[in-house]
Amino acid sequence: MQIPTTFLAQIDSSVGGKTAVNIESGKNLVGAFWQPILVICDIDTLKTLPPDRFADGVGEAIKYGAIIDKTLFELIEQGGLSTNLLQIVTRCIEIKRDVVEKDEFDLGLRQLLNFGHTIGHAIEKCSHFAISHGKAVGIGMNMITTLSEKVKITPNGCAKRIETLLKKCDMPTECKQDANELLDVITNDKKVANGTINLIVLKEIGNAIIHNISLDKLEDFFNGR
Ligand code: GLY
Repeated sequence: MQIPTTFLAQIDSSVGGKTAVNIESGKNLVGAFWQPILVICDIDTLKTLPPDRFADGVGEAIKYGAIIDKTLFELIEQGGLSTNLLQIVTRCIEIKRDVVEKDEFDLGLRQLLNFGHTIGHAIEKCSHFAISHGKAVGIGMNMITTLSEKVKITPNGCAKRIETLLKKCDMPTECKQDANELLDVITNDKKVANGTINLIVLKEIGNAIIHNISLDKLEDFFNGR
């Protein structure tokens, strides 16, 4: 049973059965899929969170809207998070449940939940974890969408919407780590397989796809080529 008391845990880590521990070489590198029999979320506990802790969930809530549910994205655009918190938590959990029911072991659809995370994990690591997960994911969503707009996978304007929404929610939108530093870390990401990595990019707000790219081409992608 899980009784999550942070925004991040309520809408993401408590649902879906990913359990893992950090080891010296990185976060969440050893683990197993093990589904909880029950998850209890009481959103009153979120009122007790310091703003920095709350921010970790904000990045993930915006992510669900961006990848799957334009209406959720617009709800956050219109009212922020505090106005509709119960509705937002509920919708995020429904999305996660639906995705995990279709792809428990992360072989396809579930990878969409990784939007913003490949760059985000690199930002966390390069900042020596001074930038927390949700904030790094927010910056990662903004960066990957800016890059995928440059190579014309994503229509212009999506990155601006993500950036504006992050700012509205008091989230950072950029970091001081440079692209080469981040690229080095991404090249060694646990999700690299056969010299390629699946990047999650937007076709539009509310619709994400998997874009498989070889590590050779990753530098070009980062340079907008
Ligand atoms: N947090 C991403 C996942 O559960 O797949």
